[in-house]
Amino acid sequence: MIHILENETTFHLQTTSTSLIFHMMESGHPLCLYWGKRVEDEAFSYIVKEIKKASYLSSTDGNPKLRLEQYPLLYPAYGNPDLRTPAFMFRYKDGSRITDLRYTGYQIYRGSRKLEGYPTCMDETAERLEIRLEDRAGRVVVTLSFTVFMVQDVITESVAVSNSAESELWIEKLMSGCVSFLDDQYECMTLTGAWGRECHVGREMIRQGLFVLDSKRGASGHGQNPFIALVEPGTNETHGNVYAMNLVYSGSFEADVEVDMHQNTRMMMGLNSFDFGWKLEGKDIFFSPEVVLLHSGEGLGEMSRRFHRFYRDCLMPKRFAHVCRPVLINNWEATYFSFDRPMLLSLAEEAAHLGIELFVLDDGWFGHRDRDDSSLGDWTAYEKKLGGSIAALAKEINAKGLKFGLWFEPEMVSPDSSLYRNHPDWIIRVPAHEPQCARNQYVLDLSRREVQDYIIDSLDRVFGSAHIEYVKWDMNRNLTDIGSVVLPADRQKEVPHRYILGLYRIMEELTGKHPEILFEGCAGGGGRFDPGMLYYMPQIWTSDDTDAIERLEIQRGTSMIYPGISMGCHVSASPNHQTGRMTGLHTRGVVAMAGNLGYELNLLALEKADKQEVQIQIAHYKTIRDTVQNGCLYRLKYTVQEYAWMYVSEDKRQVVVSYVQVLTRGNTVPKRLKLAGLEPDSRYRIAGTDIRMSGGALCQIGLALEWPTGDFFASQWVLNAEPL
Ligand code: DGJ
Repeated sequence: MIHILENETTFHLQTTSTSLIFHMMESGHPLCLYWGKRVEDEAFSYIVKEIKKASYLSSTDGNPKLRLEQYPLLYPAYGNPDLRTPAFMFRYKDGSRITDLRYTGYQIYRGSRKLEGYPTCMDETAERLEIRLEDRAGRVVVTLSFTVFMVQDVITESVAVSNSAESELWIEKLMSGCVSFLDDQYECMTLTGAWGRECHVGREMIRQGLFVLDSKRGASGHGQNPFIALVEPGTNETHGNVYAMNLVYSGSFEADVEVDMHQNTRMMMGLNSFDFGWKLEGKDIFFSPEVVLLHSGEGLGEMSRRFHRFYRDCLMPKRFAHVCRPVLINNWEATYFSFDRPMLLSLAEEAAHLGIELFVLDDGWFGHRDRDDSSLGDWTAYEKKLGGSIAALAKEINAKGLKFGLWFEPEMVSPDSSLYRNHPDWIIRVPAHEPQCARNQYVLDLSRREVQDYIIDSLDRVFGSAHIEYVKWDMNRNLTDIGSVVLPADRQKEVPHRYILGLYRIMEELTGKHPEILFEGCAGGGGRFDPGMLYYMPQIWTSDDTDAIERLEIQRGTSMIYPGISMGCHVSASPNHQTGRMTGLHTRGVVAMAGNLGYELNLLALEKADKQEVQIQIAHYKTIRDTVQNGCLYRLKYTVQEYAWMYVSEDKRQVVVSYVQVLTRGNTVPKRLKLAGLEPDSRYRIAGTDIRMSGGALCQIGLALEWPTGDFFASQWVLNAEPL
């Protein structure tokens, strides 16, 4: 709901449980007055009057009372007496970098609007407020667009820049959203890490100065998810105010948190301004990607559940968002590049026997690829290795009762490929320098239309040639040597953003032409696990680290934002290929059942007893899959020693509780595990026992934990609601 108050000077954006309030000052400067738990008042401008002024601040418009640096500005500019970090920077033809934006009007619309060229969160029932800001020198109009998703308790923001002049200007920074707080008592929460260690939760008290979280990699990156939140100290899973931002974008991004000298805080997020530039021709318009603003007054658990629901309802492809995903076998860690047709068919045979539903043929099926040093870009079957075409292989796999899926890395080219030999200029590079190879590959210049078209056509051809029901879309290196041989000198800084726009166009076309294909995103694991990718690819490979114990923290962090249905989680071999750790099959199964279950090991090499266990795991997962994939997540414990989480089905009739104790210690006794999110009066029976407990008792008294039988010990309970 959007309320217009105080003679159209105050805008109150209200969702079911949150409020975001703006005020347009007489001077035309827009302020962010409040963000937090829902309030109902009709007037808020008193907040502005009651702001106490510090000394040593210059005035604006000759008004000694108008001290911009003291105000919680909604979209701060550079060039006026507010000398904190601006949300945008434009450079004009005369070399000036000063823009003086003032409010000139608003517009309200029903429904969300698709941002052209970008993934966008959409819902017909949403409302949209546009706030129009015009430069006093008449050179530019900036429109802030807020979409209010009432039911999902979420607001999104994006920004449009219209060049009003005939001559060009250069955009050097453009944040998608900025919020201000009149205090500084917050911790900054991030999801950071590295390849194989993605999404580790970090929290640190903010203090005076500027904290920047960013990716300069051309991808959102393994090291930092495009997420930042301010949380009140003491916030936990169930309590505390959380103010979160998540960028719907898959490239280099930036989040700035600045505490000024008067204990005010500013938080903003958008495209990375480092090495960014966009030449905006006269009368042209540029849109920023969208940022999701989510406040939870009930801690991190509620924040996550809102993100999960929002992304399932308003972002992920409708066809897949709520539909249970097939249990898959991926041959990567089973065979790496060394496979042949009999091997694949035996693996598929065994997989089908164990209850697996989808067979994924990973890297190595095309060109003449037997190692990671050739053929990327040549998307034609390696028939000698496969013993025939992809169509024939898919047919045989289908005949075994499995769907068939295929791996691609479409954004790349190997120096040893026909594509590179024919088009050496199609890569991202700068003519004066020898481009760097990483994993023996170059990045294709997706800013070029003909390169985009090549990818669309060559993948479309493969998709149309065989019965392919799933595609794994990988991306195994970041952008270096950034430049495009076709763009003029004054547009070279546009390349990384144009790359992402090109990628989105490719995915838009391919998912549009093949809506039946389930896409799984991957970038060497979770190197591009972001809402931008989720818009096209409703599941993403969470990490290349498949070690169950490592996965506890990776999956916990990823689950902060992204729903279980989107997280690819596989049971792999023991000893684990990344860490060498030995973990029992039961524990590996419990951890992988936190998300979208798959297997990635040589099933043929398993002992008979292990095969039986896998068969039981899969049959069991199918009985809880809807709860895990479409239910509500409650994280119960996450210490170095113990992790516990539970999913409650949408109708609250099934509850799946998982617990892992990392290392066993001498002479300790197992305690109880208190659950969450259950109706106190509902009654549940613990499957496989005669124990019945009320929801209230399960949350207050808890389940009795078992005696651990060794390190890396896991338990799982399924509770079913019984009629009262
Ligand atoms: C990196 C991915 O994350 C792996 O799962 C696998 O697909 C390899 N690439 C294949 O090259």
